[in-house]
Amino acid sequence: RSKRPAGAPDRKLARPVTKIGVVGAGLMASQLALLFARQLKVPVVMTDIDQARVDKGVAYVHAEVDKMLAKKRIKPDAANRTKALITGSVSKEAFADADFVIEAVFEELHLKKQVFAEVEAIVSPECILATNTSSLSVTAMAEDLKHPERLVGFHFFNPVAVMPLLEIVRAPRTDDAVLATAFELAKGLKKTAVLVKDAAAFVVNRILLRLMGEVIAAFDEGTPADVADSALRPMGLPMSPFTLAAMVGLPVAQHVQESLHTAFGDRFPVSQNLQKLIDNGVKSLWVPGPDGTPV
Ligand code: CAA
Repeated sequence: RSKRPAGAPDRKLARPVTKIGVVGAGLMASQLALLFARQLKVPVVMTDIDQARVDKGVAYVHAEVDKMLAKKRIKPDAANRTKALITGSVSKEAFADADFVIEAVFEELHLKKQVFAEVEAIVSPECILATNTSSLSVTAMAEDLKHPERLVGFHFFNPVAVMPLLEIVRAPRTDDAVLATAFELAKGLKKTAVLVKDAAAFVVNRILLRLMGEVIAAFDEGTPADVADSALRPMGLPMSPFTLAAMVGLPVAQHVQESLHTAFGDRFPVSQNLQKLIDNGVKSLWVPGPDGTPV
């Protein structure tokens, strides 16, 4: 009996991946770079718009490896090898010899399209392009590519090191060899990959946002944040919805809400309160309001 995940093409079609590029050096991008280097043992280069961001990403990876070392979850030689495999650059030229480049930049379609246009001008025609978008259309992202068949959605969950699931998104023109390579990579990363259709927020975030949306709606309607949040604790969730929103980042949560609202209308209302918090620079829903209670 075949052990291939449902919908995955024949693994014989998969291409070797010997160098990986990550666009972005923020939290998600750095977590991805670490996972790739650690599990696949291939060189990984991260890029960002300035040296300070690149340095921050590389420093994050080193600190995470040191934490693993302190917990004896990684051997010293593997720790050194992992660190050495990850480099940073401010130039996408560093992707010239990469065969897989994934973007983890801000959730803006035009930005992601611009990133892929720049990357496509540098990489070889065979290089696979992947997006870690959590809610945008992979089909729309592929629209202006010279080789749209090389783009695949590769959506991880936060924290990347711990969450076992990976949504692999097939856009209408995604090539079978590209998809087969994505599944082989997922196997190498020890993630459970599922093939999902290119629909707004794919599958997991649709489910998650129904739950989080209702908690945020209760908060919007006047239930204090701590009450709305703690009401769900006895449900045995690994993390309360507001803690999760803060971990993922309020702007990301807001973007997913908006994508779902655009696609499904009133089934996924957008919280005005969440937008207000973002406008005021609030990072977590637990920041005290003017009267000292959590907003
Ligand atoms: N990086 C690396 N490892 C981490 C980590 C991180 N950011 N956070 C936790 N861990 C590790 C800890 O080191 C610990 O490992 P050890 O057992 O080896 O010490 C292990 O995970 C468990 O952590 P804790 O004991 O601190 O806490 P916990 O048992 O509460 O688990 C959790 C933490 C795994 C994050 C858990 O709370 C959880 O599963 N939360 C839900 C996360 C979730 O739903 N993520 C999806 C978010 S949505 C998203 O990402 C998609 C999107 O598109 C927007």
